[in-house]
Amino acid sequence: MSEGTIRIGMLGCGTVGAATLRLLHEHADDIAMRAGCRAEVARVAVRDPGKDRGVPLPREAFTTDAASIVDDPEIDVVCEVIGGIEPAKELLLRALANGKSIVTANKELLATEGKELFDAADAAGLDLLFEASVAGGVPLIRPLKESLAGDRIDRVIGIVNGTTNYVLTRMSEQGWSFEEALREAQRLGFAEADPTADVEGFDAAAKCAILASIAFNSRVVAGDVYREGITRVTALDIADARRMGYVVKLLAIAELEDEEISARVHPAMIPQAHPLAAVRDASNAVFVEGQKVGQLMFYGPGAGGDPTATAVVGDLVTAARNRSIGGRSMGCTCVLDRRIRSMDDTRGQYYLNLHVADRPGVLAEIAGDFGHNGVSIERVWQEGSGDEATLVFITHRAQEGALQKTLQELRESPAVRAVASVLRVEGEEP
Ligand SMILES: NC(=O)c1ccc[n+]([C@@H]2O[C@H](COP(=O)([O-])OP(=O)(O)OC[C@H]3O[C@@H](n4cnc5c(N)ncnc54)[C@H](OP(=O)(O)O)[C@@H]3O)[C@@H](O)[C@H]2O)c1
Repeated sequence: MSEGTIRIGMLGCGTVGAATLRLLHEHADDIAMRAGCRAEVARVAVRDPGKDRGVPLPREAFTTDAASIVDDPEIDVVCEVIGGIEPAKELLLRALANGKSIVTANKELLATEGKELFDAADAAGLDLLFEASVAGGVPLIRPLKESLAGDRIDRVIGIVNGTTNYVLTRMSEQGWSFEEALREAQRLGFAEADPTADVEGFDAAAKCAILASIAFNSRVVAGDVYREGITRVTALDIADARRMGYVVKLLAIAELEDEEISARVHPAMIPQAHPLAAVRDASNAVFVEGQKVGQLMFYGPGAGGDPTATAVVGDLVTAARNRSIGGRSMGCTCVLDRRIRSMDDTRGQYYLNLHVADRPGVLAEIAGDFGHNGVSIERVWQEGSGDEATLVFITHRAQEGALQKTLQELRESPAVRAVASVLRVEGEEP
């Protein structure tokens, strides 16, 4: 680090990278005051160095040779905003080996190959900061890791994917189908042309793994997270939920129960009075329950260049300060080896809507299927009659495996014409 200046090498200059460069330029004086030194972007690696990116840097600063940045002895901090596993992983390992601090927004990389990177950073005594990797502009990683270090966290429930929250909001408020809402999200730029990572829950699962790892001090990877997307959520599910005072959301849930971790992403009904129910459109929010602090909610823009850049620049300021005093932030805290529960072993509440034969004894037959699987019913009521007869059930908390067995039997039961809808119910009204 040259006297009074920290030199940053950027890997990537797309949505987040370009906004980061603009923010570093626009707020340069404030950033220098907070970091204790000026931040200078030395070079930027991209695929196409000829592209006009509307950033305050000369063309000569751009290169396609990312390795030359991580090897450059003049660079202090490497900021990775390429995304994906490779070449990001190799580049960051090489940067750490060369003594550089790291700032990254890459949830996919951290949630799958994070251990190798964190081990390398810890061994080298260097920062590996990643505030932007979960919920974009919403400060979450540092509050969970540092501000709440004195508490024990029992549960984290998040709306961490803006695309799916936008789609579910439109389905709920306009009565649109999933396909209609997704088309609108794509038209407005909230959803990618290939929306798989969002609508199938992969993006939320990576974030869930990162949140669970930090909340419970134990390594959870994306593959440990049970994952169900929103493609099977129907307009009927949403209408039923609304009628009963609930809203359907795609939730990332990390829980610690009996020293075991449950990490899952799936659509669920939450009470309209729950703070997460008010999180509309592309916003993100994470609800945290700590033993001493009680309930907290972090809310805001979970994506977008400018909001995400604030998280990246916050980390750059921290890395700069740490280098100037020869220190580092808290390293990896995944020191415990906690068992991760299979989905079948998790417990939850369920909503079921069954089309049934309208004849005497049907309710008793169906109740028997619940009963012998150990699933107890909290509420049941009938709607319609004759061919339209529908039974609606809300269960008490039950084991997922038992509920799935019950469902299988109900689907085979002569008393049941169709299982129209099944949704998990989460989030007691706080
Ligand atoms: N977008 C968001 O709102 C958001 C929010 C939170 C976190 N993130 C995370 O931030 C990261 C970046 O996202 P983004 O939306 O900014 O992506 P993006 O717009 O697709 O930008 C990616 C950048 O990386 C460059 N690049 C790709 N492959 C490269 C390679 N092999 N060598 C050098 N440069 C390469 C691209 O160069 P060219 O420009 O020349 O193609 C582009 O500048 C991802 O990890 C993402 O998950 C994004």
